[in-house]
Amino acid sequence: NGPTLKGSAPPGLRVGAAVSAALFEDPAYAALVAREFSSVTPENAMKWQATEANEGTFVYGLADAIVTWATRHGIAVRGHTLIWHDSAPGWLYQIRDAARMRQVMGAHIRALMTHYPQVTTWDVVNEAVSDAPGHPLRANSPFAVAGPDYIAHAFREAHAANPQARLYYNDYSADGINGKSDAIYALLRDLLAQGVPIHGVGFQAHLDETYDVTASRVTENLRRFRALGLDVHLTEVDVTLRGPPTPDALKRQARVYHDLLTACRAAGCSNFTLWGVTDLSSWRAAAYPLPFDDDGRPKPAHAALIAALRGP
Ligand code: G3I
Repeated sequence: NGPTLKGSAPPGLRVGAAVSAALFEDPAYAALVAREFSSVTPENAMKWQATEANEGTFVYGLADAIVTWATRHGIAVRGHTLIWHDSAPGWLYQIRDAARMRQVMGAHIRALMTHYPQVTTWDVVNEAVSDAPGHPLRANSPFAVAGPDYIAHAFREAHAANPQARLYYNDYSADGINGKSDAIYALLRDLLAQGVPIHGVGFQAHLDETYDVTASRVTENLRRFRALGLDVHLTEVDVTLRGPPTPDALKRQARVYHDLLTACRAAGCSNFTLWGVTDLSSWRAAAYPLPFDDDGRPKPAHAALIAALRGP
C-alpha cells in the first residue's frame, strides 16, 4: 500500500484514467481507479455512437453509471467527446444540408451537456485537424457539411448549453512542436480572436517507448498554448512497448511517462489522464502501454509518475 498517483499530485493537478464497463464488472479494477485517480474519462460511453445511434433517441446507461460512480467517489469526470467524426453514426453521413447539420450538432451537444450538468469539462471537438500535408481540417468529417466554421459553431452551442463548463479542443500527434501542433495553434488562436468560447486544449499523447519528450519540445509546445490563455490537459496518455516487457523496455517506458508528466507540470497543465488503467484494459493491450500490469500491479512507470508528481 505505497504512494498513489492522486495522493502524490500537487494542488491544481488532477491525475485521471479512461474507464469502461469494467468499473462495474471487476471490483479490483474499480478499487484501483478509486485509489489512484482524481479524474475519469468515459472511454467510449459518451460518444455519439453510444449515446445517439438513432436520431433523437438518447441512451445514457453506462455513461450515467460512470458519472454516478465518480461523483460518489469524489472523482471529477472529463466529458468525452461531443463532436468526433470517428464515432458519428451512419445517419449523420446522410445529412447534406448545412442548416440541418448545425441543428443536429446543437441538439446533440445540448442533450449531453444538460443531461450532465455536473460534468464541467468537455472535449467538445476531437481530432478535427487532418494529418495531410499542411494539416487542413479533415475533409472526411460528416460535420464539415455544417460549413467551414463548424468548430466555432460546436463551441458556441456547448457554451450556450452550460455556460459554467470548461470547453476543450482535443487532438493526437500534437504533443511536441511539429506541423500538426502548429496548425492546431493557429486554429485555436484564430477561434479565440473571433471570441469563440474555448477554454483549453487536450493533447492525447499516445506515445511509444522511443518517444523523446525533450527533443520533441513538449514543454515549449504546451507553454505556447498556455500563453494563448488556454488550460492544458494531457488527455489520453499511453506509452507502448515495441517488444516484450523486459526490464530495459519497462525502464524506457517509465522514462517517457516521467518526462511527459514533468513537461506537463513545467507548463502548468491541470490534468494528466491515462488512456486506460491496466495493460489488459487498454485499446493497445498487446503493447503493455499503461503503468499497471494486467493484474493491476504497479509497473516501473507508476513509481516514475510519482517521482514526477513529487519533483520540483
Ligand atoms: O462494445 C462493442 C462490443 O459490443 C462488440 O462486441 C465489439 C466488437 O468489435 O465492439 C465493441 O465496441 C468497440 C469499443 O471500442 C469498445 O471496446 C468498438 O468496436 C471500437 O471501435 C471501440 O474503440 C474505441 C475507439 O476509441 C473508437 O471509439 C476504443 O475503445 C477507444 O480506446 C478509442 O479511444 C480513442 C479516443 O476516444 C479518441 N482518441 C483516440 C483514442 C484511441 O483510438
